[in-house]
Amino acid sequence: MTTPPVDATTTPAWGELHTHYQEFRGDLRGWFAADPGRAERLSHTAGDLFVDLSKNLVTDETLELLVRLAHEVNLPERIEAMFTGEHINVTEDRAVLHTALRRAPGTEPRLVVDGQDVDADVARELEKMSAFAEQVRSGEWTGVTAKPVRTVVNIGIGGSDLGPVMVYEALKPYLKEGLEVRFVSNIDPTDVAQKTADLDPETTLFIVASKTFGTLETLTNARLARAWLWERLIAAGAIDDDDDAKQAAVRAHFVAVSTALDKVEAFGIDPANAFGFWDWVGGRYSVDSTIGTSLAIAFGPDAFRELLAGFRTIDEHFRTQPFESNVPVLMGLLNVWYTNFLGAHTHAVLPYAQQLSRFPAYLQQLTMESNGKSVRWDGSPVTTQTGEVFWGEPGTNGQHAFYQLIHQGTRLIPADFIAVATPAYPLTDVEGDGKAVQPGADVHELFLANFFAQTKALAFGKTADEVRAEGTPEEIVPARVFSGNRPTTSIMAPALTPSVVGQLVALYEHITFVQGVVWGIDSFDQWGVELGKKLALEIAPAVSGDDAALEAQDSSTAALIRYYRTHRG
Ligand code: F6P
Repeated sequence: MTTPPVDATTTPAWGELHTHYQEFRGDLRGWFAADPGRAERLSHTAGDLFVDLSKNLVTDETLELLVRLAHEVNLPERIEAMFTGEHINVTEDRAVLHTALRRAPGTEPRLVVDGQDVDADVARELEKMSAFAEQVRSGEWTGVTAKPVRTVVNIGIGGSDLGPVMVYEALKPYLKEGLEVRFVSNIDPTDVAQKTADLDPETTLFIVASKTFGTLETLTNARLARAWLWERLIAAGAIDDDDDAKQAAVRAHFVAVSTALDKVEAFGIDPANAFGFWDWVGGRYSVDSTIGTSLAIAFGPDAFRELLAGFRTIDEHFRTQPFESNVPVLMGLLNVWYTNFLGAHTHAVLPYAQQLSRFPAYLQQLTMESNGKSVRWDGSPVTTQTGEVFWGEPGTNGQHAFYQLIHQGTRLIPADFIAVATPAYPLTDVEGDGKAVQPGADVHELFLANFFAQTKALAFGKTADEVRAEGTPEEIVPARVFSGNRPTTSIMAPALTPSVVGQLVALYEHITFVQGVVWGIDSFDQWGVELGKKLALEIAPAVSGDDAALEAQDSSTAALIRYYRTHRG
């Protein structure tokens, strides 16, 4: 049994943070002017990530108190408990060992948890997945008509989708020529219909990715995909319309990733082509397990191992770096400061990298399914606010949409800005615009100029006097003032390599964990998604025409279902 949570709000550090907050006045202009060493002192390196925390609303004293808080809630012990396989997922009585998926091969002592040789099992499945990926990439793996795979369709949802989608987009420049991966997740039939519409069944491989192999969306989509495969192959004369031929088609065109191998076999997939993982890998922490099979195929096993090495770099940093310079610890504590003291409700993540377009969506599951809780791991109510809303879009698109509110709205929105120095597609604007953009301008530099400008504008703003000095008519001066003191963290890396992507993901995994520890919550269960799932199955008969089931609904739900039944096409 894991130790009970410490109530952070009763610690001496929390009390001092409270006093500190009452006297606190954010003054980024003043702080930077008075302290030339601020940027250097508040910037840290973790692996390849350069992280500038200096534009946050903190003083040295704030950070010292936050670090003390981390010690007083026993964060060091909790980190060790996670890495060593204690059952810190209390409500499911499970170890939490996504970090074991990326341990260096041959690490001693070996990790043995609950009698399981974790290292050996991880290595075996990684090897099996890698060999399969190579077979697909080389063309050795073929469909029923002996044609190599051209399109991989990953069918999964939540953690069995968001991680692979995000990394696929992030690493697309590494995609093997002639291969493509598509992702089907939604039970809205539009998703599978559109993603398969133009595919050749003879060159398509489906990966059914589901930890439980019991998720309604995934299993429904897998059946739809199987029916599509049979229908198209039969229509093309590629297979006979009989059970043996159909079974052979499924075995050649479907593989699975799951912890429930018996269910995989019942679906008709050859267990030899099922890649396993374990109950100690949470769905939202599973992109670095065999859930990443589509990625190993798309980018190759070597790139996948490089991705794992990136995760490992940040794991080691998190486990060993003193808290004063431990980036995930500091970023997690800053989020606590904003959520619990400065009253922030949301947190923006703004990648200045189109390849990271799905990173905010990925983080939404990671952070909000993990920390959107109101009880602690001993079942008692939380004692403070938890779980901010994470959201975001890539820059510069967001600048032309919602940045207005971040710059001049009434709400405090801490934001993480992420950029890389070397673009995947270095392009120049040969002509320029004859004004601001010079002929031959490096477009990535224009892009980065926006990245640098935004955090500067948010931090330092523009005073009324500065606005007036530009000759602005007095009546519109207030509308053109920027208050500044809008906190940001800037994260930079040399390039979006597989390793850097792994580092970014691990960074946010550990930030999420730090916040969970401070709040005393189990960041690894997700009971909040259960009720809606159960009710959907109960309501389904009413939707399909069962009047008794319809009458059993509350009046609002019944009216909505009646609307549907009247208007369905
Ligand atoms: O939405 C709840 C959830 O259990 C997520 O935690 C998980 O990532 C997703 O469903 C998919 O689950 P599975 O991989 O078992 O299909």
